[in-house]
Amino acid sequence: MEYSFLKIESKDGICIMKVSAPKSLNALNSTILKEIDDFVSNLDINDVRVLIITGDGEKAFVAGADIAEMANLNEQQGYEFSKLGALAFRRIETLEIPVIAAVNGFCLGGGCELAMACDIRIASSKAKFGQPEVGLGITPGFSGTYRLAKLVGQGYAKEMIFTGKVIKADEALRIGLVNAVYEPEELMGKAMEMAQVIKEKAPLALQYAKECINESYDLYADGAIELENKDFGRCFATEDQKEGMAAFLEKRKPNFVGK
Ligand code: HXC
Repeated sequence: MEYSFLKIESKDGICIMKVSAPKSLNALNSTILKEIDDFVSNLDINDVRVLIITGDGEKAFVAGADIAEMANLNEQQGYEFSKLGALAFRRIETLEIPVIAAVNGFCLGGGCELAMACDIRIASSKAKFGQPEVGLGITPGFSGTYRLAKLVGQGYAKEMIFTGKVIKADEALRIGLVNAVYEPEELMGKAMEMAQVIKEKAPLALQYAKECINESYDLYADGAIELENKDFGRCFATEDQKEGMAAFLEKRKPNFVGK
């Protein structure tokens, strides 16, 4: 499949997948989600030992799901949109090889959800993280409620999701959302260095170790992910979702009424 929004480079067992939608800071539309799903599903793990995911350009990893595409969805379409991303991201999480997110800039909403589906996250000092969804009248989706709480604990996950606050890379490091922070120009080199170290290890042992860690954490994954897909869809039956997204697109503050 030819990809319109992914740039792929693969060499000596290490593959880099860049999300590339420069006009919208790499925001994830349904075509990109299908491309990610297709790419991950068809990755030849005999050839690729480590996958690195990053964003194209200097400003953003991924600034979220595409608000312009989501603005006019109904409940069923909202559910399906969440499910599309959730399935693609679950494929990343359960891919037989290690996946490193190199977070090079804005990592918001669906972007943070993509990074959290990766095994390891490292970030540029310029990266910014957040789950701004409730400010748009929606819940996080793509399994963000589930994975954020697992990674940083319920208390901090709830604070991030309820306030929608954006945190800097050093704070993301402090709470365990990322493993390390580097200067922007060093980031990809450091990701490659880590990938090189991992690449030399025994592939099956890596695969089984990843499976063991995932399985012990993921006992409730499918139920939690499906609940979130449904609740994400329910938001699209509310006036607040229409108002929240219209406000973003019209570059004004939303006025939420709780309906
Ligand atoms: C669509 C987006 C976008 C997004 C940015 N753009 N983020 N378009 N969806 N998520 C577009 C802007 O509209 C703008 O287009 C262009 O990218 C550049 O963005 P600016 O806002 O002009 O840049 P800046 O002032 O630097 O602000 C950067 C920003 C801001 C702070 C990242 O763009 C922003 O707040 N974006 C939205 C972040 C967000 O709310 N993400 C969560 C989305 S919901 P124009 O045409 O004006 O140049 C989500 C749900 C996931 O992710 C779950 C789904 C199931």
